[in-house]
Amino acid sequence: MEWAMTELIRHPEIMRKAQEEVRKALNGKRKIEEKDISNLPYLNMIIKETLRARPPGPFLVPRHSLETIKLGGYTVPAGSRVMINAWAIMRDQTCWDEAESFKPERFEGVDMADIRDSFIPFGGGRRICPGINFGMRSMENVLANLLYHFDWKLPGGKKPEEVDVEEAFGLSLIRKNDLVLVATPYKYI
Ligand code: HEM
Repeated sequence: MEWAMTELIRHPEIMRKAQEEVRKALNGKRKIEEKDISNLPYLNMIIKETLRARPPGPFLVPRHSLETIKLGGYTVPAGSRVMINAWAIMRDQTCWDEAESFKPERFEGVDMADIRDSFIPFGGGRRICPGINFGMRSMENVLANLLYHFDWKLPGGKKPEEVDVEEAFGLSLIRKNDLVLVATPYKYI
């Protein structure tokens, strides 16, 4: 959620579009219900793009190879600890156009089955995350509420391009420094 808000504050046009979507869909309703979230395709794309650019588990969960195999010209001996660099795969220029840019639109009309080898924030194969739908719905719910009920700005006249995107080193990909934003309650029509 922190990374999603980071990218939204760095890209005011995307923030504007996302707020317009949720405010139009909710139309003055006070409480967001689960059924409302299905009407927010742009928000869904923002979350996918956040997971692509900032996967919470950049190395997934370590694997242990049972057999010796040859892969991409390398021999991986049986018993090796294999780490999958999902972060690098999801920023690979051969899979992703302008991989370094934050572009939720890239997911428009894309069948997730077609990108299951390159979009892997939830892992893949038989140990893929079983909480995908729960995780996606939870994130959509929180982000929809943040965008619906509040307008957001940076403190002290800070500019969007000045927001730092430094990542902390560790098993999960968190921001190194806290993201500090000013929330203003939204006045419903
Ligand atoms: C944004 C939300 C989430 C992300 C990004 C995420 C990501 C991941 C990743 C990368 C893995 C390792 C998959 C692999 O190595 O191939 C994993 C495994 C797992 N996740 Fe999630 N997850 C999320 C939410 C959830 C939720 C909400 C639940 C449960 C309610 C959950 C339960 C699990 C479990 C049980 C595993 C282990 C599966 C196994 O080893 O068979 N996750 N998740």
